[in-house]
Amino acid sequence: MVLKGKKILLGISGSIAAYKIPILVRLLMKEGADVQVIMTPAARDFVTPLTLSTLSKRPVFTEPFNPVDGSWNSHVDMGNWADLMLIAPASATTLAKMANGIADNLLITTYLAAVCPVFFAPAMDLDMFQHPATQRNIQTLQSYGNHLIAPRDGELASGLCGAGRLEEPDAIVGVIRKFFEVPQSLAGKKVLITAGPTVEPIDPVRFISNHSSGKMGYALAAEAVKRGAEVVLISGPVALEVPKGLTLRKVTSAQDMLQACTEEFESSHVVVMAAAVADYRPDKAETSKIKKTGHKPVLQLTENPDIIKTLASMRLAGQFIVGFALETDDEVQNAMKKIDSKGLDAIVLNSLNDRGAGFGTDTNKVTMIHRSGSSLITKLESKEVIASRVFDFIQESFDL
Ligand code: C5P
Repeated sequence: MVLKGKKILLGISGSIAAYKIPILVRLLMKEGADVQVIMTPAARDFVTPLTLSTLSKRPVFTEPFNPVDGSWNSHVDMGNWADLMLIAPASATTLAKMANGIADNLLITTYLAAVCPVFFAPAMDLDMFQHPATQRNIQTLQSYGNHLIAPRDGELASGLCGAGRLEEPDAIVGVIRKFFEVPQSLAGKKVLITAGPTVEPIDPVRFISNHSSGKMGYALAAEAVKRGAEVVLISGPVALEVPKGLTLRKVTSAQDMLQACTEEFESSHVVVMAAAVADYRPDKAETSKIKKTGHKPVLQLTENPDIIKTLASMRLAGQFIVGFALETDDEVQNAMKKIDSKGLDAIVLNSLNDRGAGFGTDTNKVTMIHRSGSSLITKLESKEVIASRVFDFIQESFDL
């Protein structure tokens, strides 16, 4: 079920074809999608909000706020929430407003605020559809990167016959399903991913660790599974749901992580080290709790093995090793140095200077750098989207 859990904003505008949209909502819901309906005022003349809210199990919005209690239907929040926005049917007026940014209703303000892919399915009478104004608006929308779901030729409500009939709901669902389907491009490959912090014991109750949440590594592991890889996720202690379809090896310290990685390395094709490995561990983990003495205690530290460097030194032909780096200054230069000193093929650089990127957040912004020096910077996006960008980069760089 490709659409399971996908958040879809469905914008309905004023066209007679709106009568087909309850069926479309039903089909999307059956596939497990989460559907938020927005209607233009004109759309309400063709289909009732009650029908749509009942089917979508969510209130349907037309106005930016509720006139009774003043509650705000934020177009920005909805635009950020969605994985995909679909405008169906898109009337001639709505196409014109979208193409020209005329934000005089909630559907258009949300469209302008949406950061997700947008699909639009026009529906109108034959002559309206063929008018140069409509055709130009459609081309403009496509030039913005919006995806056209072209209308069909057929019988129209006016009695005329020709192009302008809204694509059938099951075919619209098919287009969206196809968009989310990920090709099994890593089938037959084993991907080793590390995630989370390592925890270095001081005594039975205390430890040295860091703020890594593991979210980026887990998102990478889920993405590799989607692409059909055999995935081994070696994880330090985190509080995250484990993605389905992979082998999880839980570890605690850097030494445990090195041991598990070494066991899995030889048979791996791609290694992505997203774990925040503690650079140092206490010289000796005390077996009993250290008591207060009144003196200043001194903690002697020993350097941990560099796991990725150790793996890179054992590399076999055809293996790709990708590290992560978190830098605060001279970021790109330092990341490039790490590619050399650790023997990596590529590095994914997180910057603590970017708001919303790095530790604990659900979003990230990264620069992916290949050992040749070529690099690619992403926008601030969810860690899931970043994970897919990282694998696109790996697969393109290494022709996998
Ligand atoms: O040197 P630095 O910690 O910045 O390098 C980050 C990269 O090296 C990450 O991919 C991290 O997982 C890896 N690393 C490692 N072993 C260490 C320290 C870092 O594998 N002891």
